[in-house]
Formats: sequence, structure tokens, C-alpha cells
Amino acid sequence: MRVAVVGATGAVGRDLRRLLEERTFPCDEVVLVASERSAGGVLPFRGRDQVIRALTDRDVFDGVDLALFSAGGSTSREHAPRAVEAGALVVDNSSAWRMDDEVPLVVVEVNPDTVGTPHRPPPKGIIANPNCTTMTAMLPLKALHDAFDLVGFTATSFQAAGGAGQKGIDELAAQIEPLFAAGDLLRSDGRSAAKLVEHHVHEATLAFNVVPLLGAEAADGYTDEELKLVNESRKILGLPDLVVTPTCVRVPVTVGHSIAISATFQRQVTAAAALSRMEGFPGLVVEHVPTPLEFAGRDEVAVGRVRADLFDPHVLNFFVVGDNLLKGAALNTVQIAELLLARGLITAKQR
Ligand SMILES: NC(=O)c1ccc[n+]([C@@H]2O[C@H](COP(=O)([O-])OP(=O)(O)OC[C@H]3O[C@@H](n4cnc5c(N)ncnc54)[C@H](OP(=O)(O)O)[C@@H]3O)[C@@H](O)[C@H]2O)c1
Repeated sequence: MRVAVVGATGAVGRDLRRLLEERTFPCDEVVLVASERSAGGVLPFRGRDQVIRALTDRDVFDGVDLALFSAGGSTSREHAPRAVEAGALVVDNSSAWRMDDEVPLVVVEVNPDTVGTPHRPPPKGIIANPNCTTMTAMLPLKALHDAFDLVGFTATSFQAAGGAGQKGIDELAAQIEPLFAAGDLLRSDGRSAAKLVEHHVHEATLAFNVVPLLGAEAADGYTDEELKLVNESRKILGLPDLVVTPTCVRVPVTVGHSIAISATFQRQVTAAAALSRMEGFPGLVVEHVPTPLEFAGRDEVAVGRVRADLFDPHVLNFFVVGDNLLKGAALNTVQIAELLLARGLITAKQR
């Protein structure tokens, strides 16, 4: 099995390489791919240095059985079809293909059957990995939907700097010391404090702050990040009329997205009944106070603060956290690869 990791030098790519090693995915050969900026450098894989290839190399997908893409939407749009053309199945982490009707959008614990079968493979040879916030929300919502019939949900996210990749983490890290050193200015004149540092990745200074605009502004004042939560949730849960009210917020956390969710169901729901459905759901753990810091680097999504609504017996309120680079990206990608293997959708080429 020859596996290409496209975006191997990035925040998601780093976890992809680690998970392929740790979960002993049966790849005989890995092809690490990035931009021309990184080409020729080396990264370790299974104890050996592997030379990074440029995505623009003509033969980079030759003999590749499976290509895991994490290098941005425009890169995937342009190059994933090249990998398919060369005979690989693609699992894509970007937003490029998620809403394409011919591309399954898969959370392995939620809708694994949409991945296809050897007789009905994914029509475009591409399987999409959902957005990291949507992914985290899907686990408890699916557990609850199966019992209480989901009608809709209001979600306010608290998304980590790392959701914007390594550059998002670096920008936050560079802001912390100068702002901390500003001392009283953080209390007396926050506007001046915010100007002590630069921001290019996040919409405003993120250290010691909360930034309620995340993504590009799209329709009706919502951002593209917020619309992903609407559209991807509907596709994954197979509920085209799901009513979703999203607000996405960036917070000064390195890794780990959190979401406060208020979900409405057709049936009445109690906290105890909800907990019994969520406990034991694959990939989900129940914690009294789940925090992103404590779940950074962990595979599980954690749900807590589970409360029946004070006024509406059809509504449940809860808080969910998950590592955006793991379950939100690299882990689900590798789980999809494992699913493809288990279902006979990928086999090593005869060489
Ligand atoms: N961060 C998250 O929480 C998260 C979650 C879910 C999905 N995703 C998606 O995963 C993808 C990668 O995100 P990330 O956070 O890992 O970003 P990142 O840290 O900025 O890494 C980007 C990676 O893509 C490569 N790349 C960029 N432009 C390229 C090009 N033109 N040709 C070839 N390689 C190119 C970079 O290579 P160089 O090092 O050579 O520049 C690097 O390896 C994005 O599509 C993102 O939307 C991210």
C-alpha cells in the first residue's frame, strides 16, 4: 500500500503522519507531499527520514493507492482529481468537495455507510472529511438524534487558534508575551493594548481576547465557517431541513474547539435520558466540565454540562469539546482510510 500525505508539513499533516504510524495503518510506503517551499526537506516517518515531494511534481501520485489531502481548498480542487486520475482514492480535509452530491461527507461514528462499497464506490473517487467544528458537534447530536429526533440546534463555537493551522497557533503565541508585559493597559486601555501586536490570520488580536468573527463573511452576515456548520450538519445527518443557528467565535486556545449547543427535538428529552444515550456512543465521553485544554491531544470528543432546558421540555443544552486537529481532522481522516480498507474499497496495486 502506497499512501500519499498531501500537506505533510502542516498542523493536520503532522498528526496524520503520527496517526498512520501509531495506528499501524498498513502502508508499505508513504509519500510526503507539500508545496515547493518545503520540497527537498525531510520529515521522519517510522524512524526514517523521508524526502518531501512537491505537489507540482508530475509523477508524485504514481503508484499511490490512497491520498490524504490537507493542504487547503484550492489545492484540493486542483490536485485531488490528479491523484484520482493516477488511480488513488482521495480522503480530503478541505472544504473543496464537502458539499458535492457525488462526494460522501463522512464521520465514521455517524454515517459510515455513505462511504460506499466495492460495487458502489464513491463516484468521484473522493471522500470528504467535515469541518472540525461540525465534526465535534456531530457525535453527541447523532447519539441524541437516534433517540429523540433532532429538529434543529443553536451552536456557539469557541474555536482554537490552531483551527487556522500552524500560522494561527504562531500568531497567538507571538501575541501573549507582549500583551502580558503591557500589564495594566489590559485593564485601562484595551484598545491600545490590542495594537501592541500584529494580527493577519485572526480577525483581531486574539491573546487575552475573544473574536466573534471567524471565516470570510458570506450571506446575510453569516461567515462561511458558520454556513459550513449548517450545510455539513444537514448532509451528514441526512436531515435537509435541519434548523441550525450558528455563531463561530475564535478564542485564545492553542488546540481544541468547544461548542455550546442548544438542541431541539421532536420528542421530550431529560438530562438523564440524554446522558444514557451519549454514554457509550463511540468516540464520545461524558465529563462534568469538559475543557479544550484537557482534551488537546486526545482522540475522544467530550460532552458535559448536560441540562434539560428550563422552559422547553423538547430542548437540551450541553457543551462539547474536541481536538480540532485530531477528531476534527487527522483522526477522522485516518479512520475513514481504515474504513475504506475494511470495506475493500482500497487495495494495494500490483506493482
Ligand atoms: N487546522 C484545523 O483544525 C483543520 C481542521 C479540519 C480541516 N482542516 C483543513 O486541513 C487543511 C490543512 O490545514 P492545516 O491546519 O494543517 O494548515 P497548515 O498548518 O497551514 O498547513 C498547510 C499544509 O498545506 C501545504 N500547502 C499549502 N499550500 C500548498 C500548495 N499550493 N501545494 C502543496 N502543499 C501546500 C503546506 O505546505 P508548506 O509547508 O510547504 O507550505 C502545509 O503542509 C486545510 O484545508 C484546512 O481547512 C484544518
